[in-house]
Amino acid sequence: MKILKNKIKIIRPDDWHLHLRDGEMLKSVLPYTAAHFGRAIIMPNLTPPITSVSDAIDYRDRIKSNLIGKENFEPLMTCYLTDHTDPDEVERGFYEKVFTAVKLYPARATTNSEFGVTKWNNVHGVLERMEKIGMPLLVHGEEADPEIDIFDREAFFIDNVLSGWVRNDFPALNIVLEHITTKEGAEFVKSCEKNIAATVTPHHLVINRNDLLAGGIRPHLYCLPIAKRDKHRRALRSAVTSGNRSFFLGTDSAPHTNSSKESDCGCAGIFNAQNAIEIYASVFEEMNALEEFEKFASLNGPNFYGLEPNREYLVLEKKNHRIDEEIELPDDQDTIRPFLFGEELNWRVVDG
Ligand code: DOR
Ligand code: ZN
Repeated sequence: MKILKNKIKIIRPDDWHLHLRDGEMLKSVLPYTAAHFGRAIIMPNLTPPITSVSDAIDYRDRIKSNLIGKENFEPLMTCYLTDHTDPDEVERGFYEKVFTAVKLYPARATTNSEFGVTKWNNVHGVLERMEKIGMPLLVHGEEADPEIDIFDREAFFIDNVLSGWVRNDFPALNIVLEHITTKEGAEFVKSCEKNIAATVTPHHLVINRNDLLAGGIRPHLYCLPIAKRDKHRRALRSAVTSGNRSFFLGTDSAPHTNSSKESDCGCAGIFNAQNAIEIYASVFEEMNALEEFEKFASLNGPNFYGLEPNREYLVLEKKNHRIDEEIELPDDQDTIRPFLFGEELNWRVVDG
């Protein structure tokens, strides 16, 4: 990595947690990720979800056929874990290099999670197999029980589910606790061995629950896990800039149309693919930790997944610019609003 006066040059980053959707939405959002990132872990929560090797091959083909001019971008596919997932199918997908990982959604914890896992016993055999073959499990770490307060769901899941798996049931399973939002999440990962890691989104490093709710409700800042108190945002900022190899970049960029966000029952998800890497750069600069930026963005993720870092580079320049582009979807007149729309950023990708 090179840090010059107004520029930084890093190994091309990867996005270890991304929603691309399908159809017109896929076509519209994919170029933004492919412009900056070398690879991305693609979330399987389509309707219907990606649950088989053949689903994943077809979806990967649809993604690749939309990569005009950016054919080097590599989508890494995941399998959506259900109560009925067959360990043999998962293993076959892993050995055939179709599945990079399995994604676990507790049923009804978040968007399109209704086919997720209802009882941990139902997936015991799959997790055992994954532990044996070294295949990573990506966890949406929130308790789905509606009785549990929405702000406590991550900490509850860590205390009551995840720590049991890690310490008792599958101690050697490679687990990524996705999009952590709490001090408890960061501390749990720090206390574990190297087979437990976490991704952190740009939005959870920037907003707290006041930004979402105080002085008016801002549906474009609503995502799951929901943004927490500011002490949690500060804990996440310390964790990602500490140089600890168990934290890496995952944007959780999750596009929804404006009409589905600005609704009586708005969808969870923040679209940040256009500017994610620039927002992360600002956070690292604010924390006086730019020298740790490349590890988080470009090295820790491949290291966890046993992959080589990318061979190309990305250059960012200190340059003010406003986020002013909403994405127009061709047929349905709707638009997708990016995270921090209308606000000014101070880093800009100038060469990628
Ligand atoms: O905010 C979120 N949106 N969190 C998730 O876990 C899913 C995602 C989506 O698919 O929209
Ligand atoms: Zn997600």
